[in-house]
Amino acid sequence: MQYTKLLALATLLTGTLAIPLEKMTRACAYTCGSACYSSSAVSAAQKAGYKLESAGNDDDSYPHEYHDYEGFDFPVSGTYYEFPILSSGEVYDGGSPGADRVIFNGSGELAGVITHTGASGDDFVACDS
Ligand SMILES: *[C@@H]1O[C@H](CO)[C@@H](O)[C@H](O)[C@H]1NC(C)=O
Repeated sequence: MQYTKLLALATLLTGTLAIPLEKMTRACAYTCGSACYSSSAVSAAQKAGYKLESAGNDDDSYPHEYHDYEGFDFPVSGTYYEFPILSSGEVYDGGSPGADRVIFNGSGELAGVITHTGASGDDFVACDS
């Protein structure tokens, strides 16, 4: 009887400990709708986008200039560029860009992470951080 209780308690404790550990290892630096992005995922997208922008990218594909029609108050100065960040964890390499974007400036400084999820029309809203 005592042993069963102990076992139940141990299971309970392991269960409660497992949750914060899971959260720590999969921390969302940004949440766009239901998509969770770690800071390293954001930095990977930003670096890939900046590399392409620096290489002289044509205007039809990503990255391209982001005009900030929504009027975000970014912490870095523009000109801004947008590049997709994918919920699959892959770095964008053409094809469907999905709903989420990293925004960086001409020096490759991260301005923010924005999404079409929850926005009207073609607008963007800020991802939660
Ligand atoms: C990018 O932002 C940083 C920080 O605001 C700024 O110092 C830098 O001049 C900006 N680069 C460009 C090309 O606008």
